[in-house]
Amino acid sequence: MSANSLENRRLVLTGLLAVPVGLALTGAPARAAGPGTAPPNRFRGGQSGSNAALNCLMTRRSVRSFMDAPVSGELVRRVLAAGMQAPSAGNERPWQFVVVTDKARLASLAQVHAYVHFAAKAPLGIVVCADLSKARLKGYWPLDMSNCTMNILLAAHALGLGAVWTGIYPEEERISKVAEICATPEGIVPFALVVLGHPAQSPSPQGRFEAARIHDNKW
Ligand SMILES: Cc1cc2nc3c(=O)[nH]c(=O)nc-3n(C[C@H](O)[C@H](O)[C@H](O)COP(=O)(O)O)c2cc1C
Repeated sequence: MSANSLENRRLVLTGLLAVPVGLALTGAPARAAGPGTAPPNRFRGGQSGSNAALNCLMTRRSVRSFMDAPVSGELVRRVLAAGMQAPSAGNERPWQFVVVTDKARLASLAQVHAYVHFAAKAPLGIVVCADLSKARLKGYWPLDMSNCTMNILLAAHALGLGAVWTGIYPEEERISKVAEICATPEGIVPFALVVLGHPAQSPSPQGRFEAARIHDNKW
C-alpha cells in the first residue's frame, strides 16, 4: 500500500477526510437539532463537515486483497459488536456468527462459488448466520441480517480493516455448502460471508449520488 493511501486511511479513521465533492447528500442535517436551535452541522454544497460516521460510510469500498497479518481478537470483537448493534424487526436480533481463521476451512469457503476465491488468501472470514429460532416475525429476518452485515462492513472500515460481503443467501447451493463447511446445526442459515483483514488495496471512494432518483412528494 502506498504511503499516500495509508495516510488517507488514517484520515478516514480520525474523521478528518472530507468526503469528495459530489459524494455527499444535500440538505439533510447531520444531527437532529433541539427545538429552536440551529442544527450544529449541516451538509452544505456537497460538504459533509467533520462527521466521522458519514465519512466512513461514504468512503467504504469492498476490499478483496489482504496482508498476511492476523486480525486481533479485540478488532474481531469490535466488528462483531457493531454487527450485533444493528436494528432488527421487533428487536429480535436473529444473528449468530462463525469466525473462521483456520486456513483449510477458509480454502473450502473460497471454493463455494466463483466470486469468493480470494477468501483462500484472507486471514479471516465471518460467516453471518440467521438463527431461525429467534426470527418470529415472518419475512423480516433477511432484512435484519442485511443490516447486521452492513454494520460489520462499516465497522471494519472504521477500524482500518478491509472487508467485502460475499453472497450466500438466498442461493440454496451456497447455503448448504457453507453449512456443511462450518457444521452449522439445523435452523441456522448461513447468510453472508464477510471476508476481511488488514487491507492490501485501497479502492477510491465512488460518487453514486443521483438527484434523478429522488421524487418530491409523489413520483
Ligand atoms: C448481497 C451482496 C452480495 C455480494 N456478493 C459478492 C461476492 O460474492 N463476491 C464479491 O467479490 N463481492 C460481492 N459483493 C460486493 C459487491 O460486488 C460490491 O458491494 C459492489 O460492487 C459495490 O462496490 P463497493 O462495495 O466497493 O462499494 C456483494 C455485495 C452484496 C450487497
